[in-house]
Amino acid sequence: MQPRPPVVLERLRRRFLGPLFDRLGYDLVPASPDWTHRPTSPREVAHLLDAAAASLSADLAASGLHPREDIRALAETFWHLIPTAPVRQRRGGSGFNGALQLYVAMRVLNPAFVIESGVFRGLTTWVIRQACPGARIYCHDPDLSGLQYRDDRARYSTADWSTVDWSMLNPAATVAFFDDHVSQARRVVEARARGLTRLLFDDDVPAHRIHSHGGPAHPTIAMITALDAAPEPIRWTRNGRPFEQPAGDALAQQAADLIARAHPFDDLHHATGYSPARLTYVELHGGGP
Ligand SMILES: C[S@@+](CC[C@H](N)C(=O)[O-])C[C@H]1O[C@@H](n2cnc3c(N)ncnc32)[C@H](O)[C@@H]1O
Repeated sequence: MQPRPPVVLERLRRRFLGPLFDRLGYDLVPASPDWTHRPTSPREVAHLLDAAAASLSADLAASGLHPREDIRALAETFWHLIPTAPVRQRRGGSGFNGALQLYVAMRVLNPAFVIESGVFRGLTTWVIRQACPGARIYCHDPDLSGLQYRDDRARYSTADWSTVDWSMLNPAATVAFFDDHVSQARRVVEARARGLTRLLFDDDVPAHRIHSHGGPAHPTIAMITALDAAPEPIRWTRNGRPFEQPAGDALAQQAADLIARAHPFDDLHHATGYSPARLTYVELHGGGP
C-alpha cells in the first residue's frame, strides 16, 4: 500500500499552506493516487472487479481483440498490483481506470516491442512493464526530469519518436502508446508510415467534451472519425485561451483514411467510481488479426 502523506507536512498544509494557496486561487492537495482510496470489504471489491471486467471485455470485443486470458482474473491481478506502483500522482497522468485499461489492453495485445510517447513520471511505463514483462520498451518524452519510475530495461529518449529510425522493429509485434498531447492525426500518419497498425491513444475525447480536458491535443481520434459529421470548425476555450480545430484539415482527412477501426473504451467511472479514463484502441489499415 502507498504511504500516507507525512503527518507534519499534512498539518502544515491544512493549517497554513492550504489556506494561503486558497486565497491565491489555488488548491493545494497531496499527490495521493486515486487508488489509495479503495473498498476493503470482499463483496464490494468483487462487485467493482466484476463490473470493470464486464466493461473491459465488451470493449476488447468491440476492438476486435481476442483475449487468451480471463479478464476478471487480470483485473484482480491488477487490483493487487496497483498499490505497489512506484509513482505518486493525482494529476497529469493516469489514475486507476486509465492504468487498468492500459494493463489489460497491453496484456491482450501482447507486444514484443512498445513505443511509449508521453512518459511524464513513468506510471504508464511501469504499467506496461507489469503487463508485458519481456517487452522491449522505448520511452519518448522531451522532459524526463519528473521520472519517479525508470525502467531498467527500457530505452529513454527526449527526441520525438518520429525522428528515430525504427527499421529494426517488427511492426506486427509492436504497439505504440501515445499520451503526449500531440495531434492524434499526426501520430496516426507517422505510425502508418513506419508500418505500425496497432495503436493506443490516451486523451481521446469527442469535440463536445474537449473543453474539460487539460492540454488538449487535436484533432483527437474521435474528431477524426467524425469528420463527415463536422464540416464546420470546432471551437472551445480553456483557461481563457481560445482553441480551434479547423474544418477541412488535410492531415485529419489523411488520418481518417488510414484508420480501419477505432474504439474508445468506456471510461470505467460507472464500474469503479474512479476518475474517467480515456483510452482508445486504433487499428490502421494494413494490419491483420
Ligand atoms: C499526460 S503526460 C503523460 C502521462 C503518462 N503517460 C502517465 O499516464 O503517467 C504527457 C507527457 O507528454 C509529454 N510530451 C509533450 N510533447 C511530447 C512529444 N512531442 N513527444 C513525447 N512526449 C511529449 C510531456 O512532457 C508530458 O510528460
